[in-house]
Amino acid sequence: MSIIKLTGINKIYRTNEMETQALENVNLEVKKGEFLSIMGPSGCGKSTLLNIIGLLDKATSGTIELCGTEAMTLKDKELAEFRNQRLGFIFQSFHLVNSLNVIDNVELPLLYRNVSAGERTRLAKEVLERVGLSHRMRHMPMQLSGGQCQRVAIARALIGNPDIILADEPTGNLDSKMGAEVMDLLRQLNREDGRTIVMVTHNEEQARTTSRTIRFFDGRQVE
Ligand SMILES: Nc1ncnc2c1ncn2[C@@H]1O[C@H](COP(=O)(O)OP(=O)(O)OP(=O)(O)O)[C@@H](O)[C@H]1O
Ligand SMILES: [Mg+2]
Repeated sequence: MSIIKLTGINKIYRTNEMETQALENVNLEVKKGEFLSIMGPSGCGKSTLLNIIGLLDKATSGTIELCGTEAMTLKDKELAEFRNQRLGFIFQSFHLVNSLNVIDNVELPLLYRNVSAGERTRLAKEVLERVGLSHRMRHMPMQLSGGQCQRVAIARALIGNPDIILADEPTGNLDSKMGAEVMDLLRQLNREDGRTIVMVTHNEEQARTTSRTIRFFDGRQVE
């Protein structure tokens, strides 16, 4: 069963002066439990594609089906709810809130749901354990290494129990050792917990350890 199905996706950015076709007729199906990697040169549309899959951006045309739901038909509020409950995001630059400690960062997605404070803390501890950071719960982001920051971001992505994890160059800001640790964790989440993962990477070696790699050039999928 396909958990992600894109049909005829086009994305055109228009400003007064110019038009950029960031994606051209992208058709893509991802099966539940797959770990898909997306590669291609800078500017070829990888982040645009991930943002469209993640419902953070709208395609100019085409359809997108996530977990059996036709996403284009969702209204703004339903869209936000769907995103919060079904999707987890991991970004290259972590996107942690620097004024909040680790456990508060991880609990953030649950503030938008009807979850009691006690339950939030219990779940946050559980996912922090999963990413190996139980001993750093009260640290501030500035007091962590890059790899630890990314593991906090992964815990935050996991706390809502998402069906799909979307990761845009998750090891792009990390040295090779910390990058390898984050990749190990992502593979575990895929193999042991059955999470579907779509990851953008510039690293061929990493891509080889995923279940499938697709490549883009100039907004188009190439073989
Ligand atoms: N908000 C925007 N307005 C106009 N053009 C945009 C916008 N966002 C992206 N683009 C253009 O769309 C194309 C695809 O950008 P995108 O960020 O998806 O590339 P990418 O493959 O993720 O690159 P990188 O590897 O550098 O992150 C680029 O040509 C970019 O300049
Ligand atoms: Mg990008």
